[in-house]
Amino acid sequence: MSSTLFRTKNVEQSILDTEEPEHALKKSLSALDLTVFGVGVIIGTGIFVLTGTVAKNNAGPAVALAFVVAGVVCALAALCYAEFASTVPVAGSAYTFSYASLGELPAWIIGWDLVLEFALGTAVVAVGWSGYVASLMDNAGWHLPDALGSRDGADGFGFDILAAVLVLVLTAILVIGTKLSARVTALVVAIKLVVVLTVIIAGAFFIEGSNYDPFVPKAQTVEAGGNLQAPLIQLMFGWAPSNFGVMGIFTAASVVFFAFIGFDVVATAAEETRNPQRDMPRGILGSLLICTTLYVAVSIVVTGMQHYTELSITAPLADAFKATGHPWFAGFISFGAAVGLTTVCMILLLG
Ligand code: ALA
Repeated sequence: MSSTLFRTKNVEQSILDTEEPEHALKKSLSALDLTVFGVGVIIGTGIFVLTGTVAKNNAGPAVALAFVVAGVVCALAALCYAEFASTVPVAGSAYTFSYASLGELPAWIIGWDLVLEFALGTAVVAVGWSGYVASLMDNAGWHLPDALGSRDGADGFGFDILAAVLVLVLTAILVIGTKLSARVTALVVAIKLVVVLTVIIAGAFFIEGSNYDPFVPKAQTVEAGGNLQAPLIQLMFGWAPSNFGVMGIFTAASVVFFAFIGFDVVATAAEETRNPQRDMPRGILGSLLICTTLYVAVSIVVTGMQHYTELSITAPLADAFKATGHPWFAGFISFGAAVGLTTVCMILLLG
């Protein structure tokens, strides 16, 4: 029995399966294609929403350092993915890798983990999308009732109707069989990059040095969780988590790690890559490097535009421009963010 559960599928067999004519995929992607795809999947709610939430609740302006920490950790995981994806260049990512190395049961568990990752990821991105659409509607003077528009209504009940509608509509589109064409993906990546660069370049003119004071706010201890609720680091080393301060940067890093999710989706394209041994590491690490640089720059600019205590937690990039008296920029950013987040949601749902 245990031999069946841990039966592995060897690399040669996995590769041979992909060569069967009815399953064979065209090997046409280059390192540049993978990098564009990576940036397209990675940039999403993490930068458009979590920057504000985490700066306000966990790290203050030091959220930029949290992005660096998360980026380094992610690069280590990405190196493993790159190694695996170039050795087993077969669609399926972590599922295929664990099937080849650990066996059927671990692969089954990882397969379900991937479903969980994509489902929860979709939900979070949809909520981020709804924040930006609400901000756009706000520009036009339309307001949803609190209980339907926010995560927490006045009486503690919140149902994010826009996010729910988005997920249902995208699911229907995917069930019908629509896929994003390479041209649409490239266009959306371009829109996202323009929005992010607009935030960095235009926002830099509205930075006020006083907003960086204090850059690392004083630590505030948070109520320690017991047993299952305690973070691993607390169980292992007794370090209680805190908000702000140096530990707050690590707490923030664990949250903004979400912003890097998607680098693993690049590995799923291994089978369609021209030269996986060379192009996979370049594509995965290249997209991570671009995203980390943009994330750090955006967080420095946004926390410089508005004091971290005043940042919005639903649409922080757009609202920072509103707060500095530039609603036109805010509208443009909300529109671009909404378009960009729609495709991230679609790619995650498709996964
Ligand atoms: N990394 C993706 C995002 O930030 C999931 O939305």
